[in-house]
Amino acid sequence: MGIGLAAPALILGAPGPAASAEITLRTLAAARGFRIGASVSSSALEKDSGYQDKLKYEFNSVTPENAMKWANLEATRGQETWGKADAIVDLATQNNQMVRGHTLVWHKSLPTWVTDGTLSTDELRDALKQHIQKTVKRYAGRVAVWDVVNEALNDDGTLRQSIWLQRLGSGYIADAFRWAREADPSAKLYINDFDAEWATPKRDGLYKLVRDLRAQGVPIDGVGFQTHTLIKDPIPAALPLTQLQDTLKLFAGLGVDVAVTELDIRVKLPSDADKLAAQAETYRRAAAACVGVSRCVSLTVWGFTDKYSWVDSGVPGWGDADLLDRSLQKKPAYAKVQSVLADRDFAGTVTALHSGQCLTMPADGRRLVQSSCTNGQDQKFTFQRVATKIYTITSGGKCLTVDGASTAAGAAVSGRACVAGKPEQQFELRPVGEVGAQDYRLMPTHSYKSVAVKGGSTANWAPVEQAQYLSSTTPPTQVWRLSGVPRQP
Ligand code: G3I
Repeated sequence: MGIGLAAPALILGAPGPAASAEITLRTLAAARGFRIGASVSSSALEKDSGYQDKLKYEFNSVTPENAMKWANLEATRGQETWGKADAIVDLATQNNQMVRGHTLVWHKSLPTWVTDGTLSTDELRDALKQHIQKTVKRYAGRVAVWDVVNEALNDDGTLRQSIWLQRLGSGYIADAFRWAREADPSAKLYINDFDAEWATPKRDGLYKLVRDLRAQGVPIDGVGFQTHTLIKDPIPAALPLTQLQDTLKLFAGLGVDVAVTELDIRVKLPSDADKLAAQAETYRRAAAACVGVSRCVSLTVWGFTDKYSWVDSGVPGWGDADLLDRSLQKKPAYAKVQSVLADRDFAGTVTALHSGQCLTMPADGRRLVQSSCTNGQDQKFTFQRVATKIYTITSGGKCLTVDGASTAAGAAVSGRACVAGKPEQQFELRPVGEVGAQDYRLMPTHSYKSVAVKGGSTANWAPVEQAQYLSSTTPPTQVWRLSGVPRQP
């Protein structure tokens, strides 16, 4: 709500200018060129059409949760079982979703014939190479990103004593990336790990590893931060993930893409409203951390519904870690992620709701008017985000400005040279009316009055002013329809 104002009747307290219950995460993500992803459980996909629908409508990226793990692709040597992985990739292709392949080299979920010590070192190395290249080639052009090497580090930042390190030596990491690159030169290749989201010895180790691999010319394109997180019990004053954005920036500085690859935020069961609020805030922080870093290309949640989460069996006593509850209903965390994705620059026309006329920047850059909509450049406005819900509004290089930073009702609103940081050139966009509509009040941040057509006029060329804020007017003379705000397609 605006500073010092009573809650107006028509105004919804939606968290961002484009946020609405009807705009899905993938719509908002696509509008900003971002990938919002979810891991996919094959068994849930097979039996639950509600799960399928949510996956399709909410996410523009998917990661098979288990279907591409080696134990599931070749439990018996030479007998390949691609069915579940193929089904996920086929569905994703149908749904126009990116696929993150997970995962080629890991110390878990390996077939017994790989781990039982019967293969010689050369045979093991060859088996790993074949596994990587067969899998990557099979999905070339359809799996855009691979978690090539997963969880290669110990907590202290040294290389994990996995079967791969023990039998093949530390060169297995570079080899794996090179083999994957050979198999599909267009796929983005990631190293992926957990507990490196903040300043830990593991983060240092990962940083040095990626830096050194890059220096050796190893084809590593990205670093995935799993981000399995918990809200401690009792809820602490300081919630987690405070360092995630700094970490993402740190690694982006190495010239690689970064991604949040397995986000979930578990709570101690039973959950309650306070735990879910803390969880929601932490989800918000994770999403904001990623979208605030230009090289953070995707955020994937590890399970999107509490109905099917690895946490129930993986971490007994903990759970409810996801965006949707056990009935596939949206939790507070969903709205937080939605509002982060909605909060972005956009452009389009600005129509006065009471008159149907378009906000127009006069050629001389002076006072704004409403005039018949022509689709002209003088009616195209760019909304540039300054802070949450706060935007500058420009057309033809001029900024919408309350003249003289006046706080008086009736002050003219003109097109002036843009000067960074001027509150009379910054507007809070406050959603009005139906959830999901594109209707907003434009409120100059120095006065928290409302931009309106003078006197509520419907006439062509009527001037625009800063008007006294009225909580509700009929017709709605202080409400503007913003065509650029993304809506459900
Ligand atoms: O499908 C079988 C089922 O037939 C059998 O009855 C049942 C009995 O335990 O097991 C089922 O397989 C389990 C599978 O999950 C599907 O539920 C496996 O035992 C179990 O090990 C497997 O756990 C997965 C785990 O990785 C190990 O692969 C989790 O679902 C999956 O969420 C988890 O994901 C990992 C990421 O790959 C890497 N980062 C950490 C993340 C969470 O642990």
